[in-house]
Amino acid sequence: MRFQHISVLAALLLTVATLACQGREPAKNAFRYKLSGPLIPAKMTMVTAWDFPKNPLTDDTLDTSKLSSNVRLGFEIFTDTPRSAPAFVPGKISCNNCHLNGGQRERALPLVGIAGQFPEYNRRAGRLISLNDRIVDCFLRSQNATGRLTDGSTDQSVLPTPTSKEVLAVSAYLAWISRGTGMGATLAWRGQNAIPNDKLIPLASLDRAKGEAIYTERCTNCHGADGQGVTVGDKRPGPLWGNDSWNDGARAGRIYTLAGIIRWSMPYLDPGSLTDEDAQQLAAFIDSKPRPAYPFKDRDYLVDPLPPDSVYYPPRTAAGK
Ligand code: HEC
Ligand code: HEC
Repeated sequence: MRFQHISVLAALLLTVATLACQGREPAKNAFRYKLSGPLIPAKMTMVTAWDFPKNPLTDDTLDTSKLSSNVRLGFEIFTDTPRSAPAFVPGKISCNNCHLNGGQRERALPLVGIAGQFPEYNRRAGRLISLNDRIVDCFLRSQNATGRLTDGSTDQSVLPTPTSKEVLAVSAYLAWISRGTGMGATLAWRGQNAIPNDKLIPLASLDRAKGEAIYTERCTNCHGADGQGVTVGDKRPGPLWGNDSWNDGARAGRIYTLAGIIRWSMPYLDPGSLTDEDAQQLAAFIDSKPRPAYPFKDRDYLVDPLPPDSVYYPPRTAAGK
């Protein structure tokens, strides 16, 4: 009896508290924690996985124009690529799996302001590239769009181009989250996913068995022993290896790059808790696994040297390439 009274009282207090909070409901798109500039702070955990500082689906400054609908489509493609851009995604990876919170999270490869950074020299391509070229590359490699080429096929019409509607939509979304940061502005949050040079461990000293042990302890509950990802609440990570993962021409196929992604964004309930070394051992393990082959690797790094951590690329001699 007494217990019941207490629960009624508690329920009442809760209602009052909730109403009071609603009265002070912060403006739309505001969160109960402080953003880091325009970004979700790197220390936030998976409970904020669906938070987007700028969300075109709820933003009332967007109207019914073609541009606005492309911004919304681009966001949908970004956050659920296999469903919204199936033509270019044979596997199960989304842009958002690596660029967390719609590309609006600190130290998770944020893309806010990115539209003002292009054209830019790209070492892999050996030339200036545009933002749309960069997006095409993400589709071809991180999303494994080249998996749509049937064996030996040279029918390039199945591949994304800078004017494909999906690419234009993603570009519209990225330009929209870049509004307010000027052309060529120095972005404090860009390039913050690199392991510092003095902490890089030579590849020969990395031990994938060590990486596997850390993986088993800290990653399997969300990524699965088979690396394919398990459903956690309403989230499911992308496959870390295998046919449905990013291909071996993707930036994440480079050990130090992958280590930099993992170092500050994972494990998702305690991001930032790994050491520089742990992140590199983990990356060495994950990038020792099989994944789809990018068929045009021989066209990469023809001007600039092949980076040493491109472990899926055949070694090049000085004379050949
Ligand atoms: C498997 C992980 C992964 C996936 C999936 C992925 N990316 Fe990326 N992306 C990266 C990495 C790694 C970089 C390189 C970051 C760097 O150079 O610091 C990058 C770079 C970029 C850049 C350039 C950023 C910069 O600062 O120069 C853009 C734009 C981008 N990605 C867009 C996308 C889009 C759009 C998609 C989906 C179609 C996508 N990415 C999917 C890992 C990924
Ligand atoms: C609490 C769950 C959880 C844990 C533990 C966790 N992750 Fe993740 N991870 C995720 C989710 C969810 C995503 C996708 C995020 C999104 O799409 O919003 C992700 C994405 C990733 C990605 C981007 C590429 C992809 O295929 O999705 C990498 C790499 C990654 N995690 C590595 C790791 C490693 C290594 C560990 C162990 C140190 C780890 N994660 C631990 C939930 C987790």
